[in-house]
Amino acid sequence: MDCIHQRAYDALMECDVDLKVAKVKQLAQDWSADLISVECEPFEPISVVDPGRPTLPELVLPKNLPKRRLGSKEGQAALMHSIAHIEFNAINLALDALYRFQGLPKEYYGDWLRVCTEEAYHFQMVREHLATLGYEYGDFPAHNGLWEMTFKTSHDPLVRMALVPRTLEARGLDVSPPMMKKLRAVGDHRGVEILKILLHDEIGHVWVGNRWFHYLCEQRGVRYFDVFQELVDEYLTGQLKGPFNYEARRQAGFTEEELEWLKNWE
Ligand SMILES: [Fe+2]
Repeated sequence: MDCIHQRAYDALMECDVDLKVAKVKQLAQDWSADLISVECEPFEPISVVDPGRPTLPELVLPKNLPKRRLGSKEGQAALMHSIAHIEFNAINLALDALYRFQGLPKEYYGDWLRVCTEEAYHFQMVREHLATLGYEYGDFPAHNGLWEMTFKTSHDPLVRMALVPRTLEARGLDVSPPMMKKLRAVGDHRGVEILKILLHDEIGHVWVGNRWFHYLCEQRGVRYFDVFQELVDEYLTGQLKGPFNYEARRQAGFTEEELEWLKNWE
């Protein structure tokens, strides 16, 4: 039997976009056919500064990303490209969650493999739409924020769950509805349709983050709400960004106590 960590690592380090997607699909199939083990020989996680990705897009600092108006076709494509880049990174971060954190319950790996498969599907869908606009993934520069936080939280699954799915990915829930509004305004109906699917699925992904964050807090006998506030202080200088999509966050498993607390940043 193949080991989940080895197979996820192999897909994580794959630089070719199509091969990476194919490896994710094959892993999901093998998992369903019960060909993948979660009880593997000890496997030493390494620090992945740079996961497998194509040479393009060029990675730049967020402040160096050119501002484009959504009114032009190029602007519309640039927005789709930024979404494609998030989805591509999301494949890698799900693979990293599968590879790096070992000895967790089997359901953890089932959950993250489902997330990974959906991210690959999202990436392909956004990429196809981008192609209809005359562009492909790699044509615009992009920033590396999502992976940087993934890297910074490599030492502890609790910290990872708190800051990647529950913070950065949850931010996607907040910004989706205004983005849909903009796309509707420029007549990009397929773009709106895609964002609806993404929002629906991302609620499930944040839910997975919440599930395992709560699990790990319980196991360590710490209170999730206190831990989360400490982590926001430590990693995000105590700042979150609003406004928030409370309904989507509620569905994704944020508690009423947390939703109330978020109002501090409205
Ligand atoms: Fe996604």
